[in-house]
Amino acid sequence: MRFDYLALEKALESLEKGLLVVVPTETVYGLAADGYNDKAVARIYALKQRPSFNPLILHYYSAERVLNDVVADERFFKLAEAFWPGPLTIVVKRRDDSKASPLATAGLETLAVRVPSHPLLRSLLEKYPHPLAAPSANPSTRISPTHLQHVLSYFEGSEHVGTFLEGGLAQVGLESTVVDISSKTPAILRPGIITKEALEEVLGPIDEGDHTTSIKAPGQMKKHYAPSLPLRLNATMVREDEALLAFGPQVLNGSKCVMNLSEEGNLLEAASNLFRFLHELDSKEFSAIAVMPIPNVGVGKAINDRLMRANAHENEDSL
Ligand code: TXA
Ligand code: MG
Repeated sequence: MRFDYLALEKALESLEKGLLVVVPTETVYGLAADGYNDKAVARIYALKQRPSFNPLILHYYSAERVLNDVVADERFFKLAEAFWPGPLTIVVKRRDDSKASPLATAGLETLAVRVPSHPLLRSLLEKYPHPLAAPSANPSTRISPTHLQHVLSYFEGSEHVGTFLEGGLAQVGLESTVVDISSKTPAILRPGIITKEALEEVLGPIDEGDHTTSIKAPGQMKKHYAPSLPLRLNATMVREDEALLAFGPQVLNGSKCVMNLSEEGNLLEAASNLFRFLHELDSKEFSAIAVMPIPNVGVGKAINDRLMRANAHENEDSL
């Protein structure tokens, strides 16, 4: 990929000034601020209308730089070695002398850290002296953006954003897996394309939790990632006035508008298409989006987790 170096310079200046920068990552686009600057971080909460008790992930150039802010143990190094740079966030004990903005961490004694793999973001992280606090670049409860156009539809013209960096389509398409190793038994707080099985190869047995009923990551509100049209999950038929989000070679008949997450039934492909397709279907005139069943194995668990949250009712934790 060719970089726009001018844009990179502008992004560095924006961060220094305490403004936000929209950054591409391999998972979804992020809304980044200097992670050591409280005022800059406050802009993220203001722009996203995010509740301040929902902490942010800090993004670093390398595992070595992460050590400035966290107390690392053997499990941390094993995970970093196996999965970074890549779509894994590790929740780990914060160092007492860490300069991370308490607003970014919601005052917790732990930090969520990750080393992303997108080359343009890596250049920015390498050049900027501090980690970047970055949530997904969508207003709270709206669908996470997998391409820049999608971010612009939310935030174009905002006084808080200094630079929008174009980095193509996000490859993974779902937010990073969040694993908590701050206590004795590791736990998955948010499923992603790095699966429980992959983590267990490195860590041994872990607690998968029940993402559908419990809120373990403070930000894992039941309603999240929501399109404005209602979703009808596990659809085995489709009505004429519904759009269809299909999966696999055998597509249901009856809808005028069908988008297939993966004709081959490939879960990784489906994950990468999910948010983009939901966003697209949401702009159309239908009564609902019917979603065909997605097998609940491996990456399918992460897809079903996002679908379930998108489908939660307004009055259940509508943050
Ligand atoms: O792929 C990703 O992770 C994207 C890209 C931009 O990196 N970021 C992202 O951030 O999804 P966000 O803010 O949308 O989700 C962060 C999740 C939230 O569920 C939050 O509650 C959790 O991480 N989290 C952050 N700090 C935590 C902590 N100290 N303990 C437990 N959970 C934490
Ligand atoms: Mg988010």
